[in-house]
Amino acid sequence: MMKVLIALVSLLALCAGQLTNLTNSQELDPAGNFRLSWEVLPESGDIVLEIQAKTAGWVSLEIVTDDGKYADVIFAGFNDETGSGYIEDWSLEWTPGAHLLPIPDASKDVILQTASFSSPNTTVRVKRSLNTGDYYDVPIHSGQMPMGWSYSASDAYDSVHAAAGFVYITFF
Ligand SMILES: *[C@@H]1O[C@H](CO)[C@@H](O)[C@H](O)[C@H]1NC(C)=O
Ligand SMILES: *[C@@H]1O[C@H](CO)[C@@H](O)[C@H](O)[C@H]1NC(C)=O
Repeated sequence: MMKVLIALVSLLALCAGQLTNLTNSQELDPAGNFRLSWEVLPESGDIVLEIQAKTAGWVSLEIVTDDGKYADVIFAGFNDETGSGYIEDWSLEWTPGAHLLPIPDASKDVILQTASFSSPNTTVRVKRSLNTGDYYDVPIHSGQMPMGWSYSASDAYDSVHAAAGFVYITFF
């Protein structure tokens, strides 16, 4: 019975894809409240991104163009009240320190794989193509890329961020 149970639990964990650690990670927040992990899947041309942030609200990543003027926004979280994860594919005109409200992309090119809240952290794992082909998305290229990050204390879409910052990331 125990063996069957253990096998079943391992199988469920595999299905949920939660046991696999991603190969790369970087602390984006100097205060240590926002970690991004990722793994490039060369066969499919996809990237898996995982955000672990010390908040019960939404989390967000901005993939900024090299000229620093435009950002592809991944906005996601886990809503405790509904018990489900959420994700949005947005974009915005970018200027450090100030930006206009994000605009939803007509083409949704980012998939929510898992979302959870385990106090004090929200963890979301998403997948997208490195280059989605959508004009409104920013391709993830080799070498250093400018990136923004933010999180809110609330899941409300219109709640302001509790913390935000700007970093450079070399995905591959
Ligand atoms: C994933 O990483 C965590 C923290 O570094 C570690 O405790 C855990 O054993 C790892 N899990 C797997 C399946 O490698
Ligand atoms: C919560 O997330 C922060 C930021 O990524 C991380 O440093 C910390 O280890 C996490 N805590 C737990 C209990 O997982």
